[in-house]
Amino acid sequence: MKVLQVSAEIFPLLKTGGLADIAGALPAALKAAGCDVRVLLPGFAPIMGDLQSPTVLAELTTPWGERIVLRQGVLGALGLTAYVIDAPALYCRPGTPYEDAQRRPFQDNHRRFALLGWVAAKLASGLDAHWQPEVAHSHDWHAALTPAYLTFGPVQGKRVASVYTVHNLAYQGVFAPNNFFELGLPNAAFSVNGLEFHGQLSFMKAGLYYADHITTVSPSYAREIQTPEQGCGLDGLLRSRAHDLSGILNAVDEAVWNPATDAAIAHAFDAKKPAGKARCKAALQLELGLTEQAEAPLFGVVSRLTEQKGLHLVLAVLDELIARGGQLVVLGTGDAVLEAAFKARAAAHPHAVAVRIGYDEAFAHRIFAATDVTLVPSRFEPCGLTQMYGLKYGSLPLAHRVGGLADTVVDCALENLADGTANGFVFDDFTPEALARAMRRALALYERKSEWRSVRQRAMQQPLGWDKAAAQYVALYQRLLG
Ligand code: ADP
Ligand code: GLC
Repeated sequence: MKVLQVSAEIFPLLKTGGLADIAGALPAALKAAGCDVRVLLPGFAPIMGDLQSPTVLAELTTPWGERIVLRQGVLGALGLTAYVIDAPALYCRPGTPYEDAQRRPFQDNHRRFALLGWVAAKLASGLDAHWQPEVAHSHDWHAALTPAYLTFGPVQGKRVASVYTVHNLAYQGVFAPNNFFELGLPNAAFSVNGLEFHGQLSFMKAGLYYADHITTVSPSYAREIQTPEQGCGLDGLLRSRAHDLSGILNAVDEAVWNPATDAAIAHAFDAKKPAGKARCKAALQLELGLTEQAEAPLFGVVSRLTEQKGLHLVLAVLDELIARGGQLVVLGTGDAVLEAAFKARAAAHPHAVAVRIGYDEAFAHRIFAATDVTLVPSRFEPCGLTQMYGLKYGSLPLAHRVGGLADTVVDCALENLADGTANGFVFDDFTPEALARAMRRALALYERKSEWRSVRQRAMQQPLGWDKAAAQYVALYQRLLG
């Protein structure tokens, strides 16, 4: 089965969040499950730079009259055949893939990302004479026009099935309505039964409305987004598509996230031989100027610092954590107020709190390896990967019971300890008090050394690899292809 994956990011070349991790791991997982997978990506500099033996597949004029080149090659870092949209005027700029250096979204983002869908549809209709996808699987708003262009594009041969995956409904790609008319879609598509959303142009809606099937990244989130509370204004549409909507839980790329083989950590360890974990902890305490105390429970946060992640709750319980002898390390970047608040706490308690503002992949690995608990108190969380990385590295997750966190973390309540399902700490109310109680539960278990070790061992042995999710995607593709 020929499957085209369409996304804006891909690990290890370009990553701003979990989307990249998934886009980087899913192709190999699908290949292992027997699919013939290629990816379509925007030509950001790191992606262009990694493209081996590139050839020009086509020179194209976009619906708004810009010339672009579509290159084909193999991504060296992934050993994966890729189509890359070579358009330096659109993709090679200072800032993030989406925002300028002042964190303002680029004014032409509708064009920059419409191209992903537009080119995907061209590939679907036979642009590459040697390889025509049977399934076009697009991810998040950036690639969400794919199903719309497929719906309105020329059909050559068998119709291509479209799957659209929502990684985060909160980011919708909404633009001023006049931008719609540059995109080369028929005017009829700019309606409530289409891309129009309260008078604006919504990329997300294109994916939700036109895809043959919608997936999201956990079963709980698939249910939650059909409610007004979590539907971000799109719950009505999602309910109307309930039969074509399912949750497939993300997984962990064990080639990247494995404490037994991880080159980013100083001391290897695994569930059976956990001694290296204590050494990783001692090394991180030393590196960060935290009190070098093996017994101090060390909590960690690796996160975008945004409203979504619920980190104000961590700030609210931090004094209690410190008073109870705990330590905290934070790695993150984002909201300036949160950055400043965490930095201030580190300055006030340099031996108990360490904060690094920025994005640092290797440091993230060292944090999971060193910490005892990974904090993920998100207000909402489509899937969440850091709680799963915490499990793999024996850093028990402490999480809000929501979205993918609810699907992956089982509280150390006595009954769960008794039946061997416990792997972390879960709180229900989104309040500092509820988080504090879960934190006290973590600290209490931490005191019971042998119980802690056995929960940790089980957590590390929990199967989190891609085989299950890949099989679910393949079954879905097969069903859509009839
Ligand atoms: P989201 O995609 O909403 O940000 P996920 O938990 O799915 O949340 O994925 C976050 C990914 O980004 C993980 O791989 C995590 O380790 C990584 N990450 C987040 N912030 C940082 C950071 N400051 N430095 C390094 N890695 C980070
Ligand atoms: C999004 C979500 C996160 C999810 C990730 C990968 O960024 O916020 O919960 O894990 O995508 O699917």
